[in-house]
Amino acid sequence: VPSAGWRPSDHAETSRANRAWWDEAAAWYQAEHADVLGVADFVWGPEGLTEDEAGLVGPVAGRRVLELGCGAAQCARWLAARGAVVVGLDLSWGQLAQARRLAAAGSARPGAAAPGPAGTSGAARPEPALLQADATALPFPPAAFDAVVAAYGALPFVADSQRLWDETARVLRPGGRAVLSTTHPVRWAFADDPGPAGLTAIRSYFDRIPYVEQDAEGRATYAEHHRTVGDLVRQVRRAGLVVEDLVEPPWPEGRDRVWGGWSPLRGALLPGTLVVAATKP
Ligand SMILES: C[S@@+](CC[C@H](N)C(=O)[O-])C[C@H]1O[C@@H](n2cnc3c(N)ncnc32)[C@H](O)[C@@H]1O
Repeated sequence: VPSAGWRPSDHAETSRANRAWWDEAAAWYQAEHADVLGVADFVWGPEGLTEDEAGLVGPVAGRRVLELGCGAAQCARWLAARGAVVVGLDLSWGQLAQARRLAAAGSARPGAAAPGPAGTSGAARPEPALLQADATALPFPPAAFDAVVAAYGALPFVADSQRLWDETARVLRPGGRAVLSTTHPVRWAFADDPGPAGLTAIRSYFDRIPYVEQDAEGRATYAEHHRTVGDLVRQVRRAGLVVEDLVEPPWPEGRDRVWGGWSPLRGALLPGTLVVAATKP
């Protein structure tokens, strides 16, 4: 990365940069995190909290569920295996190609059965529909879904997260549920380092200027945006949703897995993930 730091980056620049970045990073990202992400697992973040344990989305059988920033669609596949009708949406074609690779690998395995809840077996693994689109401009009519979910998908990577929440609310039916995880905002103040250097606050938690990596010509190649906890709650409410819970998964004792800046050392002291659960009245 020729240069990296904090500077403004608007929707168009952010979207262009992150699409190219995730296209490029997809194969590496999936290989690096395959042990945590699995094939048809629903994991909310590096702490390893699963939807099996958390039950934040509620019953999904027969429900229409949209996953934002689905990557290789592991969560979408988990939902489909439990009877949901799922669309996995991602900005990056590279990530969706990884989803297709996992699907093909699964169906190629002799006798591949749905890795669904205990007791289900024999059926071919149901695969979610995949769609390349931007989470801030969802190509669906109003009330098309019973639930919208994201495990670190899209939310940290969009310049205008109000638009993402507005779109989420629009495509949810009344009574529908939105559950989206993201980097815990408090991490913004600290160096993104899994070691002791990551325990010292180096910038203001209140500074919303995004983190941007850029090429030698000053063009953004990656952008990550920060909102405080209060910002997020206000955006969800402005979108017309009711916040039900803010889940901060603790780092489980004995978990020694390091994921970028997420580590046992930091996890013992600081929250790493925030899961926002909301409903549409
Ligand atoms: C950290 S990955 C998470 C992927 C997956 N949910 C997982 O748990 O592995 C973030 C994903 O968000 C996608 N993304 C980034 N910006 C997006 C946007 N504006 N709209 C939709 N997806 C986006 C990226 O392409 C990437 O696949």
